[in-house]
Amino acid sequence: MLHAVVMAGGSGTRFWPQSRTALPKQLLPIAGEQTMLRQTVDRLYGPNGAAGDGGAGTIAPERVWVVTNAVQAEEVRKQLPEVPAGNVLVEPCARNTAPCVGLAAVHLLKADPDATMLVLPADHVIGPPEVFQQAAATAAAVVQDGPGRFVLFGVPPTFPSEGFGYIQRGAPLPGFEEKKAFSVASFREKPDADTARQYIDSGDFYWNCGIFTWRAEAILDALAEYEPNTRKRLTEIAGTLGTPRYEETVEAEFPQCDSVSIDNAVLERTDAACVLEAPFDWDDVGSWGALRRLLGEDEAGHSSDAKKFVSLESKNCTVRDTTGEHLICALGVEDLIIVHTADATLVAKRGDENAVKRLIGELKERG
Ligand code: GDD
Ligand code: MG
Repeated sequence: MLHAVVMAGGSGTRFWPQSRTALPKQLLPIAGEQTMLRQTVDRLYGPNGAAGDGGAGTIAPERVWVVTNAVQAEEVRKQLPEVPAGNVLVEPCARNTAPCVGLAAVHLLKADPDATMLVLPADHVIGPPEVFQQAAATAAAVVQDGPGRFVLFGVPPTFPSEGFGYIQRGAPLPGFEEKKAFSVASFREKPDADTARQYIDSGDFYWNCGIFTWRAEAILDALAEYEPNTRKRLTEIAGTLGTPRYEETVEAEFPQCDSVSIDNAVLERTDAACVLEAPFDWDDVGSWGALRRLLGEDEAGHSSDAKKFVSLESKNCTVRDTTGEHLICALGVEDLIIVHTADATLVAKRGDENAVKRLIGELKERG
């Protein structure tokens, strides 16, 4: 059966001050009225589970799993009341996505020895849902056709981003040619800008969407090969599933997993990866800059969803007010990011996507 595993333990620091440790971007309405997590899950089965198992690629709430941390778990359960509380898996600490995927895989295998997992980031904007569901069904079919495969989704790259994985297209996958499925010739996680530029110029590469489909058993086998220490910890944890010793075992073993992404751990090393060209619209919503793509621009070049925003002799600002009642005025300025929340306001120069991350570091240092 196809299960969804939502990875929702990231910190989302680039969306400060709207995002905070206990409420990072996936738990907030960054793009649209619903939180990004709620949108991620609704994409699988319609609002509140209405269409669960209603067609190929849809997934019922009982087969939706979320991996998160202790600080966010309660809010995750609150936002997804239809998902069984036991399907919200709690990591004692962040160890990046390889251990996160591994933890989900051991839980899934216990629930369903034949489990295929659709691994999803919790913080992307994707649509339309029906197209996404069809793509998930195709990915599941590719895995059924070759149970050792790791299926990725690729989008044609538009600029030499250093923040994505790059997938080199190989030969078309027999039987799935019209679905634009290919073997993966090589995978490179977050190359430098020069390398990314070469990849783009070659015309052979996709960006990795960060959405994966594979059998739980296959990914655990890959972890055994490439991350044996992590696999060993997961085996210890798996041995106590459903027993009173589970909690203490996770507390003891999970922090000893090596902190590495699933991209670096498995996808850069395996030769069993395949890629499906993503038929859906996709936006990674990585930083405030993404709001411009999502909101569009008014005639002065502003991207704003603030209720009360007044601009005079100003242009090209990105503006948000989470209180819904603050009056924001821009006078004689351009290219600013202005984000107002109840207890903090950010005014920043547009363009440097990493600046907010540096600011958080500085704020932490100053206490
Ligand atoms: N539970 C849990 N635990 N979730 C985590 C952890 C963790 O330790 N670390 C990250 N996540 C979640 C994030 O919340 C996000 O939803 C997802 O896993 C992916 O992590 P990111 O940290 O956002 O990864 P990335 O954006 O740097 O890179 C990945 O996504 C890109 C596309 O957006 C890679 O797969 C790239 O290759 C890809 O291009
Ligand atoms: Mg990301």
